[in-house]
Amino acid sequence: MKLIKTIAEMQQFSKSASHHRQKIGVVPTMGYLHEGHMSLIDQAHKLADIVIVTIFVNPTQFGPNEDLAKYPRDFDRDWSLCEKRGVDAVFAPEPEEMYCSDRSTWVSEEKMSQGLCGQSRPTHFRGVTTVVAKLFNATLPDIAIFGQKDAQQAMVIKRMVRDLNLPVEVVIAPIVREADGLAMSSRNKYLSADDRTRALVISASLREAEAGIKTDGRKALCGLAESIAVKITAGGGRVDYIEVLDADNLESVSESTRCLLIAIAAYFGVTRLIDNALINLD
Ligand code: PAF
Repeated sequence: MKLIKTIAEMQQFSKSASHHRQKIGVVPTMGYLHEGHMSLIDQAHKLADIVIVTIFVNPTQFGPNEDLAKYPRDFDRDWSLCEKRGVDAVFAPEPEEMYCSDRSTWVSEEKMSQGLCGQSRPTHFRGVTTVVAKLFNATLPDIAIFGQKDAQQAMVIKRMVRDLNLPVEVVIAPIVREADGLAMSSRNKYLSADDRTRALVISASLREAEAGIKTDGRKALCGLAESIAVKITAGGGRVDYIEVLDADNLESVSESTRCLLIAIAAYFGVTRLIDNALINLD
């Protein structure tokens, strides 16, 4: 497995693979890898000949009150996980390689990024779209795999790729959960044992909502967000948002909605967790 630190070397690696007609799959990450990331790597192996994992804790997607320095990092562990999973190259640039000190250009999606996490993290998605565009320019992939766990991020990136005609196929892989239902996330490590147990109310509420919609159809949507909020608050969480939206455009549910996104963000202790469910109405 190759470690690549510079954009020039990364582009050279990918150009050479493309020259040999090898399909390149990229899995962009901020490191501190877990089974969720491993499932993205497995998916990349199914769809591509060469798998690149990027490991870069992107400063521009952290807000002024979010502690970039505290984001968990363990490069040696990430490296060995990638090696075991048959990754071909890890692109792990330093921040100075990715960002010039006098940079003045952003890539910014202006619709999908406004609600949900965009409300409490107003500059977050501009940082994500900018770095993902830059990572695409560095790794030159045919396919890029992202997780459904970050549902809004996945939609924002798909929209960016469509709107800018980027020659990359974006594939969204399903959420990976712990045996007890907690969605896997690098942030779970911040949860105390008690908060981790309390946080199970999020996935439990999503499962109950899904079951209710299967039984009662659209009728179950009435008051759904409010009833999930009651459960999460009673379970010891602090709700940031709970929204039930049209999964195709993140707009309010209407007669034409075919698929729902139930999106939740809630704090347990000081840790903000997100989770979601996609539910087909047909
Ligand atoms: O989902 C993440 O880990 C990050 O937001 C991403 C897509 C790697 C961009 O930094």
